[in-house]
Amino acid sequence: MRISIETAQQLDREDPLASFRERFIIPVQEGKEQVYFLGNSLGLQPTTTAGYIDKIMKDWANLGVESFFHAPEPWMHYHDHLVKTLSIVVGAKISEVVVMNQLTVNLHLMLVSFYRPAGKRFKIICEAKAFPSDQYAFETHVRHHGFDPEKAVIEVKPREGELTLRTEDIISVIQEHGEETALILFGGINYYTGQFFDLKSITAAGHAAGTVVGFDLAHAAGNVALQLHDWNVDFACWCSYKYLNSGPGAIGGAFIHEKHHGANLTRFAGWWGYDINTRFKMEKGFVPMPGAEGWQLSTPAIFLYAAHRAALEIVEAAGWDAIQEKRLKLNSFLWSLLEELDQETGGQQLRFITPREDQARGCQVSMLMLQNGKAVYDGLMKAGFIVDWREPDVIRFAPVPLYNSYTEVWNFVQALRGLLR
Ligand SMILES: Cc1ncc(COP(=O)(O)O)c(C=O)c1O
Repeated sequence: MRISIETAQQLDREDPLASFRERFIIPVQEGKEQVYFLGNSLGLQPTTTAGYIDKIMKDWANLGVESFFHAPEPWMHYHDHLVKTLSIVVGAKISEVVVMNQLTVNLHLMLVSFYRPAGKRFKIICEAKAFPSDQYAFETHVRHHGFDPEKAVIEVKPREGELTLRTEDIISVIQEHGEETALILFGGINYYTGQFFDLKSITAAGHAAGTVVGFDLAHAAGNVALQLHDWNVDFACWCSYKYLNSGPGAIGGAFIHEKHHGANLTRFAGWWGYDINTRFKMEKGFVPMPGAEGWQLSTPAIFLYAAHRAALEIVEAAGWDAIQEKRLKLNSFLWSLLEELDQETGGQQLRFITPREDQARGCQVSMLMLQNGKAVYDGLMKAGFIVDWREPDVIRFAPVPLYNSYTEVWNFVQALRGLLR
């Protein structure tokens, strides 16, 4: 017997985070709440965001530049409101986390500090089909150092007939190119396949080969549990508009392991990374702030800080462990339903790209549509299920723990079943 809607409804009744949905603005079309499954692309707007931004507007109106020091919550110290929760989300010490810029900018800044080709070592190892921004960043840094991207960028590809990477294959490429590799930079979760890589093992293999290891966590931060400090990851960066719900073009974040803080690494500097105690003396000679904050460049966008804070306070109120618990439960429920569907359709109509194992995925599911994919996608959208279409044949969607329900997941799979028929 199929899993029933009553099971979904019961799970919703028992869900300790069910009320958190009310803290978000759910999109409505023609009077009907949409089932929003694109938290992997742009997370929904918290109901508190506008109020937090408005406070900054008021500070600005009332005090002008004096707000940096004399607003009710001085802008100079606003960063402190962000890093505590964020450090829990990425598994870091507070001093290892900085909120600044946007993801691609931070990737470049991290490459300046951590891609330091020397002697035989000049290669970058990454996953095949890394997000385009990452590919362009690799290509241009490699050229900047005078190397040919064709020779310097080593992509790990899935085996023939497979869609995702095996950890053993990633490790064997690291071992093969180890002595010539300067940097390993993987996505935490690949944006296309939804595969969550084994960051701990990749880091350990990279270090054993004598290379630096970093991650682009765009699809992992706020989605899955991470332990960047304990895994000994050298650096990472992420965006906060997906699972961190901080708005379009939201301010990004970066992690730099504390073992590098005193290391006098090469970096591109700006005044906002200068030691806060003497910054306004405006003297020559860059003296960085201790920790990750020393990588900041510019006066921060306080409006973006405010939007980020509104979203992070929801994470804090829900509790990161509780969010992870629901994430696992909601996604196992989804996968049980998808497996039923897969059995019914005998693998003829769709093939799951995303691995099924808990530890190898987060919220996102990518489905390769073998027949009429675009029509199925259009049908889902028309019925109010907001998912994503990737040409030529992939549907991606991601139920998230803070605002999606078990009933939405059940209804989605039922709608998909109807459209496949
Ligand atoms: C994995 C990954 N890397 C990089 C980016 C680019 O981020 P941004 O446009 O914020 O620089 C994205 C955007 O979605 C992404 O998914």
